[in-house]
Amino acid sequence: MEQADIGVFGLGTMGSALALNIAEKGFRVAVINREQDWTDRFMANAGELADRFVPTRTVEEFVGAIRSPRPLLIMIPAGAPVNQQVAALKDILNSGDIIIDGGNSDFHDTIRHNKELDGTGITFVGMGVSGGEEGARHGPSMMVGSTREAFERIEPILMAIAARAPDGEPCAAWLGTDGAGHFTKTIHNGIEYADMQMIAEIYGLLRDGMGLAPAESAEVFERWNAGPLNSFLIEITSTVLKVDDPETGKPIVDVILDRAGQKGTGKWSAIEAQNLGVPASAIEAAVGARVLSSLKAEREKAADVYGDAVPKTNFFTKDKIDDLEKALLAGKIVAYAQGFATMAAASRAFGWGLPLPTIAKIWRAGCIIRSQFLGDIAKAYDTGEVVDNLVMAPDFVDVMKDAQGALRRVVAGAAEAGLPVPALSAALAYFDSYRQRRGTTDLIQGQRDFFGAHGFERIDEAGTHHGPWGSNAPKPEAKPADPALHAEVEKAT
Ligand code: 6PG
Repeated sequence: MEQADIGVFGLGTMGSALALNIAEKGFRVAVINREQDWTDRFMANAGELADRFVPTRTVEEFVGAIRSPRPLLIMIPAGAPVNQQVAALKDILNSGDIIIDGGNSDFHDTIRHNKELDGTGITFVGMGVSGGEEGARHGPSMMVGSTREAFERIEPILMAIAARAPDGEPCAAWLGTDGAGHFTKTIHNGIEYADMQMIAEIYGLLRDGMGLAPAESAEVFERWNAGPLNSFLIEITSTVLKVDDPETGKPIVDVILDRAGQKGTGKWSAIEAQNLGVPASAIEAAVGARVLSSLKAEREKAADVYGDAVPKTNFFTKDKIDDLEKALLAGKIVAYAQGFATMAAASRAFGWGLPLPTIAKIWRAGCIIRSQFLGDIAKAYDTGEVVDNLVMAPDFVDVMKDAQGALRRVVAGAAEAGLPVPALSAALAYFDSYRQRRGTTDLIQGQRDFFGAHGFERIDEAGTHHGPWGSNAPKPEAKPADPALHAEVEKAT
């Protein structure tokens, strides 16, 4: 039988969709799943593409079915399953073979796998794939971390299956060595969390602050989708708000429990930003909001004690809808600025040389955060307008100057109404702190020096200084006598 061009290991939602996409572009694909019946079902549903697949039952058969040197795409849950599979494949594969991990893996694991395979001639590729099932099937955005040579070997397949940006460019690229691709996907997801949280906060203001029904809010989002907020997430928001539950006939959002799940990538973004010393408060707020949402029972009790956080409807009048749109835009700019700043810092720390303009470009289509706005970000990075932070790029300065007032009014109004907007308010606080010439950490430095002699810098003289705390400085605490020790000493003397 003719050998396959590539193997796909794992026929879950994403693996199946990618395998079909690859086959549709004319490549021959060997497939395998741990549970044989999944492979059988996949083959039964492959339709006219079925003859482009080589279904296999054992790992040895799978590996043997791919033309050497082999590319193998593994699409299995991140963490232990990937670890086990890499260990198993290491003994079967030959020098020149490439393992591509297309899952949402932790980039630290990806770096580790690269080290483990060092000297074997087998290459490990960490590839972030975004776009959900639909994207995987018809054009995902793919973020690749690997050696340049490995990327060039798999490039024809990736370019054939990738989403196309409005200018026709494929949304897949080599971003750097080892963990560069999975790190970038992690930050993509952190931004995705912030984007979704801010949209949900605005939905909350439309619902609880303005008293709009889901279908009315859907119309608002639909209208916004024709403006600067145009994006996949705004588009699906409007669709989700329009759909009714077949069982109750109510809008589906009204019967969905308000407890959000998460698989980890948003949290990793926040942790990595902290590790890199980058403030990413809007992303952190979004992760925190999901965690808080899961404390449903505690929230019910708190609502009983303090009153539900819906003091009055129609707090926001309908003439505030334009403010909500601009507030969302301003918040979104800050979230993306934080995500891109985190990538810039990681690029320096890990020596990846992450091409930020390329990242913005390959996020223009295929991925969950795809939007018109990413085209503007790509332009700002491409032309070198972003030096330190996206909010300083001239086009974004204009938007922020125009939209910051709305963000301020919306956050203030929400606070007064008792409606939570954690990500939007974090974005506003970040923006205000970022543009504050004289902040308030002079006091923190004074406190640190007072209690711990940590030293501070002066505005008028170089070097490290200490405060004239004199007799005000804390005295070392006298240790309380240890009666047991005292008794020991008594006995010995
Ligand atoms: C994508 C998504 C996807 C992610 C889901 C769920 O880019 O296609 O980011 O990879 O798995 O969005 O993530 P959470 O379960 O953490 O919300």
